[in-house]
Amino acid sequence: AKIQLFPGSKTNVWMFDANLKSGDKTALQKFGESYLGPVIRVKKGQKIRIRFKNQLPEESIVHWHGMHVPEKDDGHPKDVIGNGETYIYEFEIMNRAGTYWFHPHPHGRTGPQVYNGLAGLFIVTDDEEQQLKLPSGEYDVPIVIQDRQFDDNNQLVYLNRGRMDRMNGFLGNRILINGNPDGELSLQSGCVYRLRILNGSNSRFYKLAWEDGSPLVIIGKDGSLLDSPTSKPYVILGVAERMDVWLDLSNKPQGSQMIMKSLSFSPGMMGMMGGMMGRGQNNLPLGSEYQILKIRLDNEGSNRFTLPQKLAVFNKLDPANAINRSNPRKFSFFMRRMQWTINGRTWEMTGVTDEESVKLNTTEIWELVNSGGGMMGGNGDDDEGMMGNRGMMGKRGMMKDGGMMKNMMQMPHPIHLHQVQFNILERDVSAVDSKIWNSVKDGFIDGGWQDTVLLMPGMRMKLIMRFEDFKGLFLYHCHNLEHEDMGMMRNYKIS
Ligand code: C2O
Ligand code: CU
Ligand code: CU
Repeated sequence: AKIQLFPGSKTNVWMFDANLKSGDKTALQKFGESYLGPVIRVKKGQKIRIRFKNQLPEESIVHWHGMHVPEKDDGHPKDVIGNGETYIYEFEIMNRAGTYWFHPHPHGRTGPQVYNGLAGLFIVTDDEEQQLKLPSGEYDVPIVIQDRQFDDNNQLVYLNRGRMDRMNGFLGNRILINGNPDGELSLQSGCVYRLRILNGSNSRFYKLAWEDGSPLVIIGKDGSLLDSPTSKPYVILGVAERMDVWLDLSNKPQGSQMIMKSLSFSPGMMGMMGGMMGRGQNNLPLGSEYQILKIRLDNEGSNRFTLPQKLAVFNKLDPANAINRSNPRKFSFFMRRMQWTINGRTWEMTGVTDEESVKLNTTEIWELVNSGGGMMGGNGDDDEGMMGNRGMMGKRGMMKDGGMMKNMMQMPHPIHLHQVQFNILERDVSAVDSKIWNSVKDGFIDGGWQDTVLLMPGMRMKLIMRFEDFKGLFLYHCHNLEHEDMGMMRNYKIS
């Protein structure tokens, strides 16, 4: 479709043209015309049917990010359909109340398809949430943050800078909110809002904060509300992550404004590359400070929502019940032979190894390790990649002590698991460069149920999850969409 994102010209985009019984086709359009959407709203226990008709000039399939669904409804790349074909999803909503989303998932083309406009929100509510009387209706505001780049004719530009771009991931030079370049939203002073914020970017991540220094009050993350509200000076929001923010404007005067920014931080190698690209091309290097969103309080209103001190009730999974508690499954993310890999492997459509096979009705601990690799290649034949004993930086490599070089050559990876929501058990940062860590350390939300975590260079995380209800082949991958398309994605099998 062609839509009007800028005055006086039309931009070519790809869109979900939705005919909804439940949800809102225009909820993302408060900023003006938008390629994004719709917002689908469902309730736990509801059975739904979605008919996806592919009218793109290429294959696609839609994935419901964060949802606990059978294999056939998960939008696996092997299930792609061609132009003119239809795929029918039928599943019951089994997830807790939370902010989920959907986007295409064909292998090798997820980056460009999302970039061209294909993404929307999938919002689940349940009885527990409804009893909390959180802001709803016009006070429940979706905010999707993405970066894009436009040419002189206001057409989208994707990765025209060659292979480096794909290794790093796409970084645009302007921020769009809800699929619109005008990042201004009008809300009412005197009111309280729930903002549902999704980082829907291809590879950019953010250090989000209010400009006036007031804390971000977080009430939800990915697939659940938190057990209680938590205040953060800023939040690091990796690709595909969501956070629900409580915004109290009751003491803000009419006519004032609230600005959300991304604060500066040290991103490691990717930032360096972003910085180099910066000259002339990119005025938003990763890790620089820039404005995300301006909220204008044009009108005055009043509503009566109060922030509950207790939000969701859940029992976190107990590590004592994990079948592999003494020997967690380990997945290492690193570069090998100019390829981003997981344990040295890249994508295979239906391939799955023993290391990736789990049993239904078991609880497991997975350890995710960002162990390095970068633009220089490296042989990485051990699981530490080029940083290991045999890698360029290792004992027999160029430098014994990686130092500055090492940091330059590592990248953050937003790691996502399909099918499950997990709890975070541990975040080991002992191998994270202190300059990087100090610039992001207060920005992580480790409570609740999540499906995507940002693994900073050198970071090790332990997650606990339970495989229930559905057997089959599901994905785990880096959600930097360019990394994913290059093959930093694998199957795991539940049997
Ligand atoms: Cu948001 Cu595999 O996906
Ligand atoms: Cu997903
Ligand atoms: Cu990655």
